[in-house]
Amino acid sequence: MPLSTAAERNRFAQHLFTPLPARYDRLAELLSFGQNGRWRRAMVGKVEPRAGRLVLDVASGTAGVAIALARRTTATVVGIDLTEQMLRQGQRNVERAGLASRIRLVAGRAEQLPFPDATFDSLTFTYLLRYVDDPQATLTELARVVRPGATVASLEFCVPPSPFWRAAWWLYTRTLLPVGGLATGGREWLTVGRFLGPNISAHYRRYPVSWTVRAWQQAGFTDVGVRVMSLGGGLVMWGTRSGG
Ligand SMILES: C[S@@+](CC[C@H](N)C(=O)[O-])C[C@H]1O[C@@H](n2cnc3c(N)ncnc32)[C@H](O)[C@@H]1O
Repeated sequence: MPLSTAAERNRFAQHLFTPLPARYDRLAELLSFGQNGRWRRAMVGKVEPRAGRLVLDVASGTAGVAIALARRTTATVVGIDLTEQMLRQGQRNVERAGLASRIRLVAGRAEQLPFPDATFDSLTFTYLLRYVDDPQATLTELARVVRPGATVASLEFCVPPSPFWRAAWWLYTRTLLPVGGLATGGREWLTVGRFLGPNISAHYRRYPVSWTVRAWQQAGFTDVGVRVMSLGGGLVMWGTRSGG
């Protein structure tokens, strides 16, 4: 699947995620054996959004991270995502959680955020960098909108480093994940199940974790930390915007 331009990448992500929102929250947990929730809590735990603070959640989707951030504190959260249908489900989730006065969801691209420099006190992003054309440029754009001293944290899938667990992960992502997707979510989830494993492998061949740490540093983050979770299936990263 040749994806050469940023616009193509965006269209691809929108096409992939548009049919998913109705079952997204349930299946993201089911197909990750509950690990997505664990990883998300670990990421949110890195952010200290205090009262009166403004937090940006990028690739917010159905707003699960935005809701978790708002529940932890009294900060105001802005969630931004490319896919309108994910945001619509997100808005329903926010209202059901009684957090509509504290969470605002907006449509937009991580590559070109519609906010002035240094607007936010913290920022999170989840499962984003595999969907952008230029991860380094996107990290620089994320760094632009947070103030010096802000904490930024991210969550992404990863490829287990141990050969044994990597083989088990490969088998799971290439066989059980597509079949499980089809059985629980139908054709759209079969597409996601087929896409995810090869996409994650290809991403880390091109952008290993060590590359990603350097990319965060080049974007203007210091004290960059990495936590590999669930035998290597999940990766939580965090850092501080320099200049504080
Ligand atoms: C796997 S979902 C994650 C949603 C949510 N963060 C969560 O953890 O449940 C990835 C999201 O990234 C969004 N996305 C993909 N590319 C994007 C981009 N360039 N800018 C903003 N959002 C993007 C998709 O629309 C999708 O909602």
